[in-house]
Amino acid sequence: MLRESDVLSTLMRRKPDYSLAQELYCDPGVFQADMDRIWYREWLFAIPSCEIPKPGNYIVHEIGAYSVVIVRGNDGEIRAFHNSCRHRGSVLCKTKKGTGPKLVCPYHQWTYELDGRLLWARDMGPDFDASKHGLKQVHCRNLSGMVYICLADDAPAIDELAAETARYLAPHDLENSKVAYESTIVELGNWKLVWENNRECYHCSGNHPSLCRTFPEDPRAIGNDESGELTGLQQEHSARCEAAGAPSAFKMSGLGDWRFVRTPLLDAGESYTMDGKVAVTKPNSNLPFRNAGSLLKFKYPATWNHFLSDHVLLFRVTPISATETEVCTKWLVHKDAVEGQDYDLKRLTEVWIATNDEDREVVENNQRGILSPAYQPGPYSPTHEGGNIQFVDWYANTMIRAITGGVTPIAAE
Ligand code: FES
Ligand SMILES: [Fe+2]
Repeated sequence: MLRESDVLSTLMRRKPDYSLAQELYCDPGVFQADMDRIWYREWLFAIPSCEIPKPGNYIVHEIGAYSVVIVRGNDGEIRAFHNSCRHRGSVLCKTKKGTGPKLVCPYHQWTYELDGRLLWARDMGPDFDASKHGLKQVHCRNLSGMVYICLADDAPAIDELAAETARYLAPHDLENSKVAYESTIVELGNWKLVWENNRECYHCSGNHPSLCRTFPEDPRAIGNDESGELTGLQQEHSARCEAAGAPSAFKMSGLGDWRFVRTPLLDAGESYTMDGKVAVTKPNSNLPFRNAGSLLKFKYPATWNHFLSDHVLLFRVTPISATETEVCTKWLVHKDAVEGQDYDLKRLTEVWIATNDEDREVVENNQRGILSPAYQPGPYSPTHEGGNIQFVDWYANTMIRAITGGVTPIAAE
């Protein structure tokens, strides 16, 4: 099991544009360092806000050792709290999802307001100060319908992402959407392998027959070419959408932790369906045309998303162990869309249910091969795997910065 200093030196010694060293994909010490330095520090997408539309609606999200309650208050605000009672620490919300006028601890019924204040605690004596025993808050921001949390004491800056999310998502009405379907799968692979697989379509033609009906494999259509080159088609599409009021041009953050780009689907396809036509006739966007393609967004380390003209796909990544990762997918449609009338659930979900399963299999095969003592890092394709190079650079730089406190050490020989 690697110590953090070993993780640092392994990262410092890595060969650029090559996959990572074996330990970085499977060692429990690296997993702990990833949790401590990335997952417990960065902003993480947790849920769409439309899942808790009413005061008192809550959802529990677990990340590593933490359990977090995300709850809508009587003032309509969404807040997040550690799911641990301030009396003797019991879990406060036992179910993954629920509703209540207050948050009541199941152990001795300490009762908290939806904004975290302790309202009632029986027989605690005359000196007990309820105001000092409110729930511990977790940083929480609702970015245009996507709720992010951050477990760090001091959260990193998020205002630029918030502003760009508001701009790019303006045509997509997440607040007035609902979850039509959700799937949760566990992939037997390190979380970084899940991301690396997501960041390239080098594997698509060999593995994704249904997705390839509509999704462009050309890395220049999605900004994945290492040179940053985009196809004429992408640029034309982007210009057409921008002229219609839908921000679409490629945009990546300075740190490389998030990106937006609206890509055309193949043959002017409208949605990720088997025939390329929309899956939902009551759309949750106000885009003036159906073939607006897919606005692709990612925010490391926890989410990638597709915003289509008729529906939205939100993917959430949660590491479980060094070689297990949960991938939760939510299909969002307009809140008034009626199943069987405005959309057929199988038609809406079949392409990505199949694609997720195909991705699970390739990620698991990748992990199994990496576990062999014969594994050695291999080169990324500069044409197809620019996204992987970008991801592992972001990972290594973020870890190095976090472990050293921002002071970059001299690379070891
Ligand atoms: S632990 Fe919650 S009321 Fe006692
Ligand atoms: Fe894939």
